[in-house]
Amino acid sequence: MPVLNNIGALVTPPPPSADAEATALRRIEDAALVWTDDTIEWVGPAANLPEEYKDATTHDAEGSLVIPGLVDCHTHLAFAGWRADEFAMRLGGTSYQEIAKSGGGILETVRKTRAASENELYDRSRSFLRDMAQLGVTTVEAKSGYGLTVADELKQLRVYRRLRENHPLRIVPTVLGAHTVPPEYEGDREGYLTLLREELIPRVADEGLAEFCDAFVEEDAFQPDEARRLFRTARQHGLTPKLHADQLSDTGGAALAAEVGAASADHLEHVSDEGIAAMAEAGTVAVSLPLATLYLDEEPLPAAALHDAGVPLAVATDFNPGTAPSFHLPLAMMLACTLQRMTPAQVLTGATRHAAAALRRADEIGSLAPDMQADFVLIDAPSLNHWLYHFRPNAAVATYVGGARWSE
Ligand code: NIG
Ligand code: FE
Repeated sequence: MPVLNNIGALVTPPPPSADAEATALRRIEDAALVWTDDTIEWVGPAANLPEEYKDATTHDAEGSLVIPGLVDCHTHLAFAGWRADEFAMRLGGTSYQEIAKSGGGILETVRKTRAASENELYDRSRSFLRDMAQLGVTTVEAKSGYGLTVADELKQLRVYRRLRENHPLRIVPTVLGAHTVPPEYEGDREGYLTLLREELIPRVADEGLAEFCDAFVEEDAFQPDEARRLFRTARQHGLTPKLHADQLSDTGGAALAAEVGAASADHLEHVSDEGIAAMAEAGTVAVSLPLATLYLDEEPLPAAALHDAGVPLAVATDFNPGTAPSFHLPLAMMLACTLQRMTPAQVLTGATRHAAAALRRADEIGSLAPDMQADFVLIDAPSLNHWLYHFRPNAAVATYVGGARWSE
């Protein structure tokens, strides 16, 4: 049973088991942390370490700040190619929607991802995960949505299954067949939705390839009623809804997320007051994606209004080759402070406990307390405020997942 000692300060949200409503951070100076196998046994001031742990193997934190493992609860991890030329076009004044209408955008990545083999996608995703782990990320939600045929969606999701089996990071798979209508079904949206409902979702559920079913609800993607019907099927097959909601315009995505009992509504730059009220009432987690906001030059989501309404607000990267071509969660966290005017304490809770709640895992991960998974990160910073203020390429010195120190 190992003990991490010499912790400068340990900062964590409380676990939901302590009080589902209370999320104020706990801060323990000169702390120690004890775990057995993959589970935390004890956390507290080193001076109070119980006698029974005094002979345990020690890991020296060398005065680091210790936080829960970071949870990136929204990524599009497995994709082929990049879209740097579109980045330049957007900076030249062409909008994301115009690029999409002319066949670029998501469809450009769909073409490349269809042409890639499962092994190629696996190797590339694995190398992204290595870099993410080095930044302190221990759980990664990963969406399909760049295949848009049954075979190619399954290919992406099988990459995630292999990663779940072979990779120490925790991978949480989501099927996003409803990302956009593929070219084969142009003019036959209903045909594509039928394929999703009658073939893809049942296959995904039968093979246990996803836990969540996401949809991009937007004027040029899917209408609320199309998504509503899709989610009904998803629910029947045991998949929990999630939504790309109100990213480019207010289409009622937040209210739909609340109505269908979605685990989260993500993006929300254009969320309405009614949408916020509905999410608060239903307990839907809001996921802010400040990298996508910044890359698309959108106004940030109304973090203060969401917070005041009592909506839990998570922070994630949205890592994808179009709107958020970076997997740097600490960068997204710094931007959540500076663009969304969230405090470092709110942002840490957002990238740990609330992000875990967006994945329906807040009872296992996202806070450091007895019986939680031993996922934690050693940060070279004197305090949480200092870490998010003095942005560096990487301040994480060690990442532990399920009690084991990450290395590759
Ligand atoms: O989360 N908004 C839709 N989906 C992605 C972008 C995907 C892409 O551009 O490839 C997003 O921003
Ligand atoms: Fe996304």
